[in-house]
Amino acid sequence: MKVGTRKPKTFNFQLWNAEAQNFQLSTFNFQLKRMKLTIEDVRSRFIKHFDGSTGNVYASPGRINLIGEHTDYNNGYVFPGAVEQGMIAELKANGTRNVRAYSIDLKDKVEFSLDDEKGPNATWARYIYGVCREMMALGVPVQGFNTAFAGDVPLGAGMSSSAALESTFAFALNDMFGDNKIDRMELAKVGQRTEHKYIGCNCGIMDQAISCLGKAGHLMRMDCRSGEIAYFPWEPKGYKLMLVNSCVKHELAGSPYNERRLQCEHVAEVIKKHHPEVDTLRDANMEMLDEVKGEISEVEYKRARYVIGEIDRVLAVCDALEKGDYELVGQKMYETHYGLSKEYEVSCEELDFLNDVAKEEGVTGSRIMGGGFGGCTINLVAEEMYDHFKEVVQQRFQEKYGKKPIVIDVVIGPGARRLL
Ligand code: GLA
Repeated sequence: MKVGTRKPKTFNFQLWNAEAQNFQLSTFNFQLKRMKLTIEDVRSRFIKHFDGSTGNVYASPGRINLIGEHTDYNNGYVFPGAVEQGMIAELKANGTRNVRAYSIDLKDKVEFSLDDEKGPNATWARYIYGVCREMMALGVPVQGFNTAFAGDVPLGAGMSSSAALESTFAFALNDMFGDNKIDRMELAKVGQRTEHKYIGCNCGIMDQAISCLGKAGHLMRMDCRSGEIAYFPWEPKGYKLMLVNSCVKHELAGSPYNERRLQCEHVAEVIKKHHPEVDTLRDANMEMLDEVKGEISEVEYKRARYVIGEIDRVLAVCDALEKGDYELVGQKMYETHYGLSKEYEVSCEELDFLNDVAKEEGVTGSRIMGGGFGGCTINLVAEEMYDHFKEVVQQRFQEKYGKKPIVIDVVIGPGARRLL
């Protein structure tokens, strides 16, 4: 991500997100030319904004998710992969109890004390503060540090830029102050708790888990009840993944995301009265849901129907992949889109339009990716159709909405790591 030229006036999350998103869009062509964020982009600013010395450099990725949406907080399965885009941060201990953080993308500097109970106001800095506090709560003797960081995950695209930020810092603090004693799954939970306690988004574990545990060239199926992980090589013969960013701002904090989670939890509670073995929707099936239909609202019924179906779809897609049956993978993706749009109701007009275009053009699979309410569709496209679809989808979206959606090629990269 390129450094912006405008300075946001206030640093509440909404504004930051909106400005960053606009900025992101306006500089995207530049980004494409530069290809991707480099260590040098971060190091040069770290040197400039602090005392001229250098520190350790870390990176963590954003993610795609082939299938398994809104299943993580219902203890179901997810099937994400880390992407090449992510966050890079340079850190150096400064001998104080204060963190001095510089956001290269926003050109904003914030200082906070590790011992402050409230933490900073700027949301981007609250992510770092939350991670520090949660690492301290795990017994890591975090000391004050200077840091500069930047990212090239498109903000608001549903590719988990915030998880990338959390994982970068959790991994870095574990390495610099914690002798790497905390395992990667626990680091992911540090990021998740940061979202819950310091940001207000009651997210599941998928984004942070894949950012910490991703493996280059592999998708990761995770059982969110047991924590069990299985890596699947991602080398589809004759197909490619394409993200199409509707550029409709997706923002989960304070959104109906938390409401969806509560609805699912309520349905599980009602089912549990009849079936004590059911703790979450993962443990339920369609028959159980039908049994309690009269005790829950129509909306709750739809939400739970989607989730129970989606948990099964992840397993079906994994099986299909092992057999090389991409047509079935694609069919399941369309089913997921339908469910997210009509039952879970987290789509929007633009995303449904992108899905329709994919269907009309004969694209193998297409669906909303991530939390919804905007962001990208993920498309499984036959190689020979890739360029054609890219052109058509951009042109048709532009005709209808007056702006070109951004097409992002997917390369499955590694999880959190130290670069220097
Ligand atoms: C967001 C959340 C995840 C997950 C997805 C939907 O990305 O952070 O935990 O719930 O939405 O699958």
